[in-house]
Amino acid sequence: MTILVTGGAGFIGANFVLDWLKAGGEPVVNLDKLTYAGNMENLASLKGNNAHTFVQGDIGDAGLVEKLFAEHAPRAVINFAAESHVDRSIHAPEDFIQTNVVGTFRLLQAARGYFDALGDADKQKFRFLHVSTDEVYGSLEPTDPAFSETKRYEPNSPYSASKAASDHLVRAYHHTYKLPVLTTNCSNNYGPYQFPEKLIPLVIHNALAGKDLPIYGDGQQIRDWLYVGDHCSAIRAVLERGRLGEVYNIGGNNERANLDTVKTLCAILDRLRPRKDGKSYAAQMVFVKDRPGHDRRYAIDARKIAAECGWRPAETPDSGFEKTVAWYLNNEAWTKHVTSGDYRNWVAKQYA
Ligand code: NAD
Ligand code: TYD
Repeated sequence: MTILVTGGAGFIGANFVLDWLKAGGEPVVNLDKLTYAGNMENLASLKGNNAHTFVQGDIGDAGLVEKLFAEHAPRAVINFAAESHVDRSIHAPEDFIQTNVVGTFRLLQAARGYFDALGDADKQKFRFLHVSTDEVYGSLEPTDPAFSETKRYEPNSPYSASKAASDHLVRAYHHTYKLPVLTTNCSNNYGPYQFPEKLIPLVIHNALAGKDLPIYGDGQQIRDWLYVGDHCSAIRAVLERGRLGEVYNIGGNNERANLDTVKTLCAILDRLRPRKDGKSYAAQMVFVKDRPGHDRRYAIDARKIAAECGWRPAETPDSGFEKTVAWYLNNEAWTKHVTSGDYRNWVAKQYA
């Protein structure tokens, strides 16, 4: 048996594939378009590993996806492929609709055709796991309860709206066509191989480069941060033990205001790689113009996945941040490669 992973050259997908194969999971067929966010360097340690087959292509390419189902007969699909950055979705929403909505639709169509033709035993085993985000639920007030799986969808950015649309399609393919789907809605991830357009790797990269650490608005927006390895273990738990058609929220019990997150990262850097002038990296923090429609607070109620799938995060906030800073300090060549070329155009446009 094999599993089909989409978007497996991106941040979370690559971590998932590496962890999966390390744990002795079935061979992986990895379909990734290699957009700016996809990077074969993330998968360099799998070179020569027969358990990993990489295919460059688009989840929206119906012919290609059908061919992959026919050739590899996967027992599961894990759909990570997406345009994933809120700020990019504000500048240029079209790609988000194409990949997150149309692409997911085409993948579901191909999965449905494949599933319908399976024998009963294989039908029992097949799963389509869709990886989504807590951002579909909208924004919380300070005293609101954390997002549960029954929270009304209120997406506020083109990114979250496109992910919400994909979640609805996945749900509909279960109810209408009996496709055995699972959906996970996870909070903000951080860890190795995250593209430095997102807050945590951006702050580490800019700090070391002597650049400004940009804080949007007043920096009091709250995010729940989860170490990427814990997201991957949650997906494995849902794949194994999740009930068909169900949604599982995944979170780290680690709500923090952005300003506190940046200060924490600066304190870790001050310890592990002190600035030559003896000052703290916090001196590089700069308040910049806020993101339009910026969600104020996300928080996750992860009781359902704990009760039904027996999952809990392994990292504490302190251990996860420390590990992550150490990874970026030990892998400066990786950051150097991904921040060459087009990355500079993005930074110039976003932080102008
Ligand atoms: P990422 O942007 O780092 O990676 C996305 C990957 O998908 C890239 O490798 C890219 O090349 C690939 N891709 C894009 N369009 C494609 C297409 N049309 N066909 C095939 N491949 C395509 O994103 P990420 O942070 O790893 O997120 C992965 C998934 O997890 C996304 O669905 C995202 O919505 C979800 N998610 C992310 C977070 C987070 O904090 N990063 C939190 C919750 C959920
Ligand atoms: P981000 O990593 O883009 O994730 P998301 O928007 O999906 O939550 O941003 C995390 C938080 O950090 C979010 O509230 C926006 C904020 N932020 C900044 O303050 N400065 C920055 O330069 C970036 C990229 C994000």
